Parts: sequence; C-alpha cells; structure tokens
Amino acid sequence: MNELERWIRNILKPERMTTAELAYDHMESQSGECLAVIYQPLDHTKRSHWHDTALIGAFAHAMGEARTVLDVGPGDGWPSLRVADRFQKIVGIDPSPKRVEIQRENARRLGITNVEFLVMNAEEMSFADGAFDGVMAASAIEQCDHPERALAEVARVLRPGGRFAMIFEDFDSYFDGGDGDEELWVQRDEAVPLGEDAGGAREDSGGRQRAPGSIVMYQVRTKIPAHETRYGLFVDTRGLESIRSEAGDEGTATVAFFERLRPHVRRAGVYELDHLTSSTVGPMLAEHGFTNIRHLDHRLTPVLETFGALHEAGELDSHRETFVDECLTLGAAAVDAAGDGPGDFVVAEKRG
Ligand SMILES: C[S@@+](CC[C@H](N)C(=O)[O-])C[C@H]1O[C@@H](n2cnc3c(N)ncnc32)[C@H](O)[C@@H]1O
Repeated sequence: MNELERWIRNILKPERMTTAELAYDHMESQSGECLAVIYQPLDHTKRSHWHDTALIGAFAHAMGEARTVLDVGPGDGWPSLRVADRFQKIVGIDPSPKRVEIQRENARRLGITNVEFLVMNAEEMSFADGAFDGVMAASAIEQCDHPERALAEVARVLRPGGRFAMIFEDFDSYFDGGDGDEELWVQRDEAVPLGEDAGGAREDSGGRQRAPGSIVMYQVRTKIPAHETRYGLFVDTRGLESIRSEAGDEGTATVAFFERLRPHVRRAGVYELDHLTSSTVGPMLAEHGFTNIRHLDHRLTPVLETFGALHEAGELDSHRETFVDECLTLGAAAVDAAGDGPGDFVVAEKRG
C-alpha cells in the first residue's frame, strides 16, 4: 500500500463498495456513447466499428446453435443488443439499477423486443440450473467481487454442452512489461449519491438520494498479484472545480491534493478486485466443469489489418455494403482459430 492509499484509508475511512456501487451505477453512459449501432450509425470508414462488428461476429459464432443466451454485465447493452437478432431470447443481468435502466432504454429506442435486462448479481443468479444454451460476458466477470463465484454460477445456469464466451482484462499482458500502474481521474456525473443534506438532492427511480456531484477516482493496479484497488471520493463538483483551478491542473495523486479535496468529500468508497489472467482462467473454467477451453486475442489483428490496408489504398468505400458481413466472418474465423492461449477472449463448452 502506498502513502496516498494509507492516507485515504486512515483519514477518509472509505466504505467497502462493489464496482457497480462505486462506478457503474453513476454513469449516464458506461461506453461514452461511442458504441456502433447502440449510439452511432454503423460507419464503414471507422476502424472501431469494424473491430466492434467483428467482436460481435466472434460472440455470436461462439454461441453455436444457442437459442437462449445470457449476457453478464451488459453496461450500455453490449453485446446483447448487437447480437439480439441471432437468438430467440437474450437476458442481460447487471447489479447496477442505473445500468439496467439504460440497457432497457437503449433496447426500447432500437426497437429490440427479444431482450430482457434484470438487476442481478452474477455471483448469485436466480435462474434454474441449465436455463441457458449460451452465456456471454464482456469485461464483466472480472468486475465482480468474486469472479470465481460468478464463473461457478455461469456453469450452473448453462445447459450441458452449452457455450461460454468471455472477454476479460488479462493482467498477464496488461502493463506493457511493467509491474502495474496508478491513475487518477474524475468521473463527472449528475447523479451521485451524496446524501440527503447535499444541496439539490433528489430521489432517483430506486428511491436513493442523489445530488449533482463528481467522483474522484484513484486506482492502483499490480501485475503480480493480479490486483486492482480503486478508491472513489464522492465530491461536490463546485468544491472540486475550485481546488483544481487553484492547483491549476486536473489534480494529482498526492496527499497534498487529497488534503485540499478533503473538505468537499461527502463519501468515500473502495473496492478491491483479484483479476483474472490468461494463465489462471483456463484452470478455473476446467474446475467448474468446462471443456474445449480456447483463447484468442480480442484485438482481432486480422480485422484491423484488413481495415488498415483498405484505408491505405483508399478502398474503404467499395466495402460500404459488404463490410458488416466481412467483419462478422472475420470474427467467426478468429473463434475457429482459437487455441491454447494466451488471449483475453476465452471460449469454452459446459461438459455434457
Ligand atoms: C466494463 S463494464 C462492461 C460493459 C459491457 N459488457 C461492455 O463490454 O461494453 C462492466 C459491467 O459489469 C457489470 N457488473 C459489475 N459487477 C457485476 C456483477 N457482480 N454481476 C454482473 N455484472 C456486474 C457492471 O455494472 C458493468 O455494467
């Protein structure tokens, strides 16, 4: 634990929170409204739309012949809303009421009716054993307090022979050769639970008191052990701005900056996560009854190379009508080519 962490723990005495309570429940959009189809019209000239569509191809292909599919932690509705036309029924679960509100709103706006979003923790699902033919999870299992419990639940709700596909933050390959990192940023928000005494407080749809505020996030991650600690300081936005203009910068991860921030802190929270890695996730899945466990790299280099070559040659426009099918095919091919690993996209089958 570094000096700033010790200061935060001793002085601010942060409450233990989940990732949903500290971060996801306070975001209007978890993706920054950049998702193709969900927030932006599909655009064949955008590299990110090629990549995103190929990932959808990979998820859909990995589900095999599934008709009923579960999406763990859909954020703004990804990937559920993009793959919905491939399946009879998709259920998305997320412990954050705010996220579920946004997921439902996005489904309504897009006219997608075979998707249902529920407030539920992946570690304690209320579904019957074998309820789903397939389960998808994108950057969500590692956001659970206990990822292994969530994987055990995924195995329980999958029918024998059912398919699982997950993208995860692979701490084995995350830090470009370094041992870890630290980061400070501000999550600006109009709906932070600052408590009843905060000016401008109002009740949200879940009956919680919220007021205009921001969250100062300070995160420390280590490669070994694969671990993340995140502190969130719920602050009065005006107070924060006055300090930042005084400091003349965005704020720094120092005790001095946090001392100045202290009078404006209404609440402080902390979560700790033991992250998955390419080397730990395979044995974990095998232990929970999965077989045919294979890895791929979610960057899907062949898709990016194809885009790059077409862009360079000025030929993107001639792929306007075909690029979606091309991306879906490239994504599916990446799943077919998946191997022993490493790789931060894992596909597996529940043992029959
Ligand atoms: C990084 S976001 C990923 C969102 C989306 N799948 C995507 O890739 O854009 C993580 C999501 O997992 C959800 N989450 C956190 N803890 C969870 C839990 N215990 N069970 C299910 N979902 C959880 C968060 O609320 C959030 O929506």
